Amino acid sequence: MNLRGVVLAGGTGSRLMPLTKVTNKHLLPVGEKPMIYYPIEKLTSAGIEEVLIVTGVEHMGDVVGLLGSGKDFGCRFTYKVQDQAGGIAQALALAENFTAGHPMAVILGDNIFQAGLKDYAEKFATQEKGAMILLKQVPDPHRFGVAELADGKVVGIVEKPNKPKSNYAVTGIYFYDSQVFDIIRTLKPSARGELEITHVNQKYIDKRQMAYDIIEGWWTDAGTFESLGRANELVAKTPPE
Ligand code: G1P
Repeated sequence: MNLRGVVLAGGTGSRLMPLTKVTNKHLLPVGEKPMIYYPIEKLTSAGIEEVLIVTGVEHMGDVVGLLGSGKDFGCRFTYKVQDQAGGIAQALALAENFTAGHPMAVILGDNIFQAGLKDYAEKFATQEKGAMILLKQVPDPHRFGVAELADGKVVGIVEKPNKPKSNYAVTGIYFYDSQVFDIIRTLKPSARGELEITHVNQKYIDKRQMAYDIIEGWWTDAGTFESLGRANELVAKTPPE
């Protein structure tokens, strides 16, 4: 498989304090496993053998202690430290040497979902260049990046809008070609001081190189008490593929 896998598992987990006072959000339990197992297993079951884990310096030791070389997951792990919590796009920039020109599947470590990634990865592989995002209709789009669709295309994405233009949330599951690193170099920090993944996606839209699909089955993030609870319920009711 040509595609490289990237799991972004940094951040301070501030919305889950005090659960995250002494550990990383992505090590908290969801069902019978640590949260980070879910995105990793999605990548490996799509046939991806090289997986990069990005996390903060505070809990890197625990993350490596838990995951090891990748032998137990049928893949090889590479680890990179994100020094400051400077946003998802800043974390992704650390994947440049690792991906070495290959396209990549990127999953935010707190995204838990039912469907397998293989079909989406194969669809992206037929794309000559650019990016593909996965969307999901949600009841609370203002909590996410929200996609505006017209004529079967994504024409814009707004991060956490007060007045969402649709109920399609941009999930934390992204496919990019290696142009993504040049794009990240052009970004400026947002009002909250972060390099935003939404701005990366908007640049692909502006270049007319952004495809999308709707992810089947259930999908949730797990970064708040409410959504972490929901993730646990969903995993117990219908285990992910
Ligand atoms: C991030 C992204 C947002 C996306 C969400 C998916 O938000 O910025 O666009 O919809 O992940 O989980 P965060 O959870 O970091 O606030």
